Amino acid sequence: MEKKFKRTTVTSALPYANGPVHIGHLAGVYVPADIYVRYLRLKKQDVLFIGGSDEHGVPVTIRAKKEGCTPQDVVDRYHNLIKRSFEEFGISFDIYSRTTSPTHRELASDFFRTLDKNNKFVKLESEQFYDEGAKQFLTDRNIMGECPRCHAQGAYGDQCEKCGSTLSPDELINPVNALTGNPLVKRKTTHWYLPLNDYQQWLEQWILQEHKEWRPNVYGQCKSWLDLGLQPRAVTRDLDWGIPVPAEGGEGKVLYVWFDAPIGYISNTKELLPDSWEKWWKDPETRLIHFIGKDNIVFHCIVFPSMLKAEGSYILPDNVPSNEFLNLEGDKISTSRNWAVWLHEYLVDFPGKQDVLRYVLTANAPETKDNDFTWKDFQARNNNELVAVYGNFVNRALQLTKKYYDGVVPACGELTDYDRETLKEFADVKQDVEKLLDVFKFRDAQKEAMNLARIGNKYLADSEPWKVVKTDPERVKTILNISLQLAANLSIAFEPFLPFSSAKLREMLNMKEFDWSQLGSTDLLPAGHQLAEPSLLFEKIEDDAIQAQIDKLLATKKANEAAAHKANPIKPTISFEEFEKLDIRVGKVLECQAVPKMKKLLQFKIADGLENRTIVSGIAQHYKPEELVGKEVLFIANLAPRQFKNGLVSEGMILSAEDFDGSLAVTSLLREVAPGSEVK
Ligand code: MF3
Ligand code: ZN
Repeated sequence: MEKKFKRTTVTSALPYANGPVHIGHLAGVYVPADIYVRYLRLKKQDVLFIGGSDEHGVPVTIRAKKEGCTPQDVVDRYHNLIKRSFEEFGISFDIYSRTTSPTHRELASDFFRTLDKNNKFVKLESEQFYDEGAKQFLTDRNIMGECPRCHAQGAYGDQCEKCGSTLSPDELINPVNALTGNPLVKRKTTHWYLPLNDYQQWLEQWILQEHKEWRPNVYGQCKSWLDLGLQPRAVTRDLDWGIPVPAEGGEGKVLYVWFDAPIGYISNTKELLPDSWEKWWKDPETRLIHFIGKDNIVFHCIVFPSMLKAEGSYILPDNVPSNEFLNLEGDKISTSRNWAVWLHEYLVDFPGKQDVLRYVLTANAPETKDNDFTWKDFQARNNNELVAVYGNFVNRALQLTKKYYDGVVPACGELTDYDRETLKEFADVKQDVEKLLDVFKFRDAQKEAMNLARIGNKYLADSEPWKVVKTDPERVKTILNISLQLAANLSIAFEPFLPFSSAKLREMLNMKEFDWSQLGSTDLLPAGHQLAEPSLLFEKIEDDAIQAQIDKLLATKKANEAAAHKANPIKPTISFEEFEKLDIRVGKVLECQAVPKMKKLLQFKIADGLENRTIVSGIAQHYKPEELVGKEVLFIANLAPRQFKNGLVSEGMILSAEDFDGSLAVTSLLREVAPGSEVK
């Protein structure tokens, strides 16, 4: 049953402030949340959009240690970078704050105290890994060792990144402190636990019975957690970065990041509205919606609701629209492997094209399954949809009006059957878009908006005003009037999705005021209304811009492969005398040619300062003969001659480096020297 509500609190997952944000963040959480919020605002509903950075947690401390700065330095830097990226992409938060804010520290502490006072926690003792040298307990991420499954070195206490297995630190072979390499011992420690098992029955009723409308991926994950049976979960950690545990015995301990972070939604609301925040969180007539990615489902559907329920005065989420993951060119997006399109870099490469990315990410939104972002698809959607359909339609309507009527909206005359048919086709657009947005189907909703542009494009192409103008100029007035009404509708329909382009279009239409309720109407622009100067709404993206992005990713891939590849062990030591036996010389390539029937071989004539010599080398798959002619190379001059099957004799060997991908690079010198020079 539909609940009656007066206002909506919308939250979007607080990104970790230990790195910049990328397209996966935008596609999974922030664009859909922003579309939804803009839509509600357009409908004049009371809505609050809460965001912020998640600034605690172990990864921040690891990054700080690596960079030799404080955790606060790390989060300051990334909080600001992330905040700016969101602003630039038009993510219209009412507040974007942070979990290191004083308001948050106080509210999170109070929240903990309330639960503690009301005996909502249990305290349990356990054995944890401890570094006696550094005098600290280590969290799973800070422990490293050999993977028990694939035996790779450097597996983390929570996961092996080589084989992807989920691990617990106890399973690691020879666990050590990941940062210092110190060996570890086990030591007893006490922590506060939220006994989730006490909430099992209630959660089963609340989610599995009362929220069958949640997305199947969300509902399904909750069900499998509940089917497994919930266990008590520690909400404190032995760490020095975080909110201190406000209880006796809490010295040296902080709140677990996943305990404090979701409370950040509430604190940020309080920071924005110190006097009226409570109605957004405690009034049963407020609807609460969490936008998150799929790795956050358990925290938002099971843990946080249990915390809220334990506290007792808060409302619970009505829906948790979670997306699956967006991949990039077929591979999982990864911050550590730099496999991502970073928002701040995108804006440097594609300035002013925020809406293009918003459009493509929504068109490919991973709403029901993981999806792939590719640069070719990005280009195709821009060129074939935004430019060729939406932009082209708007541009033709505006340019023709400028040409025939000096940019003044002509009066609509008598409608033909075809006009009526066209108008009928878009009369329902408001209903259609709403129906989809109300159930968080952003991808289909955007398709409906685009459909409006398709209708317009087809209408103009079929009615051909540029031809009709010669035979029936009166008729052209009607065609353009209808087209302009359609363009005005487009600016409204796309407002939640492409806010920058909608604003630009309204400027061209000189449309000062607009209202969502007008969507679908045919008198948005009165006859006689003066339009502004038209300009292109979208621009074609050329192949070279796309190739540059693909090249950038290929370079990343190559760097990652090299980094992942361990160099071969060093061969047994040799004496200096043994080394001196080797005669390495510089030679100049005089001639180079392929060898008939021997696909791998190149035959060289090398100037060696004495009598020129012939060397045969197996590098034909890596170089074309003409690339090497005239170059200086290094070769071993005193290697015993070697005869090939076809009778060819090689008098020496050209030195090449073999890259980790198996490709060969011929060695050369930093400056030219005389052929025959010795290498020592
Ligand atoms: N920082 C978490 C992540 O990026 C999300 C935290 S959401 C909140 O996965 F609920 F904790 F705020
Ligand atoms: Zn492994």
